[in-house]
Amino acid sequence: MKNIAILASGNGSNAQAIIEYFKNSSAIKVAIVVTNNPEAGVIKIAHQHKIISAIVSKNFWGNEESMNKLLNSLNIDLVVLAGFLQLVPAFVIQKFPKRIINIHPALLPKHGGKGMYGKKVHEAVLAAKEAETGITIHFVNEKYDEGEVILQKKVPVDAADTAGGISEKVQQLEHEWLPKTIEQLLK
Ligand code: GRF
Repeated sequence: MKNIAILASGNGSNAQAIIEYFKNSSAIKVAIVVTNNPEAGVIKIAHQHKIISAIVSKNFWGNEESMNKLLNSLNIDLVVLAGFLQLVPAFVIQKFPKRIINIHPALLPKHGGKGMYGKKVHEAVLAAKEAETGITIHFVNEKYDEGEVILQKKVPVDAADTAGGISEKVQQLEHEWLPKTIEQLLK
């Protein structure tokens, strides 16, 4: 059995898609959901699916010994950042070479980097009059949104699109492709 740790700070719709996709899998299991935000919707989702969730403070998250204890105790094979808004410490990256992935709601290297999340990304896409946008799933390194790209999928941007409309189209792609990509990586 391969174990996934999902790290998320927000609504958790991607976490939910992953959890549901692997619900009946005998090969891959979501072992824990980790969040830095006590209000994160993802905690409820984990609870509903009887998955352990941990709310970690910045101190804990930045402390090598505590994080190692947590991740080692669950035999984590892959760390998935699904809307996790903190930089991953170098020791976590070194511990999981090519075993931490992130999803970004645009076609990197465009519209990424520190502070580019949520609606801001889609507003930047509109302001740049892009003909298309999409999703990027990539390995995580020490810089925001700069690790090696694993997969990109595109959607057209229509003249009448709003940031909210783009967000919906992009999230559909995310929910479809993030679980499949995890499955591929863990094969
Ligand atoms: C997603 O759009 C993802 O691309 C980005 O953060 C968002 C998280 O959404 N990194 P949700 O919490 O999974 O609904």
